[in-house]
Amino acid sequence: MTYDLIIANGTVATASDTFACDLGIRDGRIVALGHGLGPAKRTIEAAGKLVLPGGIDSHVHISQPSGEGIVMADDFESGTRSAAFGGNTTVLPFCVQDKGASLRETVKAYHALAEGRCYTDVSFHLVISEPSEQVLGQDLPALIADGYTSFKVFMTYEGLALADYEMLQVMSVARETGALVMVHAENYDAIRFLTQRLEQGGNIAPKFHGTSRPIPVEREATHRAISLAELVDVPVMIVHVSNREAMEEIARARARGLKVYGETCPQYLVLTERDMDGLNMEGAKYVCSPPPRDKASQIACWEGLRNGVFQTFSSDHCPFRYDDSAGKQAPKGRTSFRWVPNGIPGVETRLPILFSEGVGKGRISLNEFVALSATNHAKMYGLTNKGSIAVGMDADIAIWDPDREVTISQALLHHGSDYTPYEGIAVRGWPMTTIVRGQVVVRDGEMEAQPGTGGYVRRARSTYARSEPDNHTGSRT
Ligand code: URP
Ligand code: ZN
Ligand code: ZN
Repeated sequence: MTYDLIIANGTVATASDTFACDLGIRDGRIVALGHGLGPAKRTIEAAGKLVLPGGIDSHVHISQPSGEGIVMADDFESGTRSAAFGGNTTVLPFCVQDKGASLRETVKAYHALAEGRCYTDVSFHLVISEPSEQVLGQDLPALIADGYTSFKVFMTYEGLALADYEMLQVMSVARETGALVMVHAENYDAIRFLTQRLEQGGNIAPKFHGTSRPIPVEREATHRAISLAELVDVPVMIVHVSNREAMEEIARARARGLKVYGETCPQYLVLTERDMDGLNMEGAKYVCSPPPRDKASQIACWEGLRNGVFQTFSSDHCPFRYDDSAGKQAPKGRTSFRWVPNGIPGVETRLPILFSEGVGKGRISLNEFVALSATNHAKMYGLTNKGSIAVGMDADIAIWDPDREVTISQALLHHGSDYTPYEGIAVRGWPMTTIVRGQVVVRDGEMEAQPGTGGYVRRARSTYARSEPDNHTGSRT
């Protein structure tokens, strides 16, 4: 049997096991695990390296309209290029419905932006900003049945925030169809109130972004989101959780038997609110929501990664440029923190940070790393052929040099942003080679592929979603 590709002599790790073996790949799939495999059209020697499932980043923002005069720094080409260099083989961005826009047309528009331009595989979540009759009765159920099996709702942000009544309406659709609801949990009115009070006091620097959305704002919304989901009896994923109090809401709900899941991100492990307190507008580089908190919250988030409060570790990559009038520095006349676009880049640095700070420092095992970076994302979001190394799975692989020492710096990265919030962080362990469905995309730190190597992936229902949706739409496989 001739293979297209063999990865030889590496140490393979999955979410449950670590073992030495070769991988045989044909037609984009893993077809053999063993020793002395061959012959092959190409062999990659991996002695001394870790052979891991390619990262799945289930929370990224690419080419998203972000407000008047603001332009997101990554399109699908640069965003997925950066993802591939960061050891990822699949990313899940959002198709964001603008108020008044058709959800179907929105999805078509994002496909047009992505088509032929991706280096990694891509699948889409939906964002519902206007749950009209058309959306609730037609478009959303139809799109879920077509493989868009998860959607995000926002409890804050002008133009995006849903009222509780609307949350219940969309959650009901998830119950009927077996979709997974992702929630951005922050209390909109509380943020508006605190923002106005801060501005009235002349407190407008980027660091006040954190003051305007303190922990109770996130804790309350997390509690409310969980309560609404409980009323409808539907599973819910609380995304970008930043602190212990929100985590306790998740843990309490789970202890009561509710299907409540959690995600955290690098910014909550290695940044704090003090990063937003820079000279002039420098703090804007760290403005994201929820904001980075304090050391105690970092410790809590590490605990959550270990004890199962969090199933997924995502980047929430949401890149803007700093030195750019369409980016992080508020447009002319809009000097308050409230105008700084929320979000930071991180798709390329997510995995090295988790590997180095987590596996390297003994906080999580290598197998937990694989679960948090790939396997659990695949299960959570219905990527049935991805996220593990086994015969029959897509050959989505990242080959890591566990000993490579790198100081993270903008100059090394491949995103469209002009800075990284993780500048200067020293890590040990780096993804050197990334393979998407058997095609070598990055080899030893060099791009080998063309845009279009990655493609769209239609998803099944989440393994974590309601096992018996009312309407039985959307398949498991
Ligand atoms: O600040 C953030 N997180 N921006 C991205 C949008 C979101 O809420 O995920
Ligand atoms: Zn969000
Ligand atoms: Zn996000």
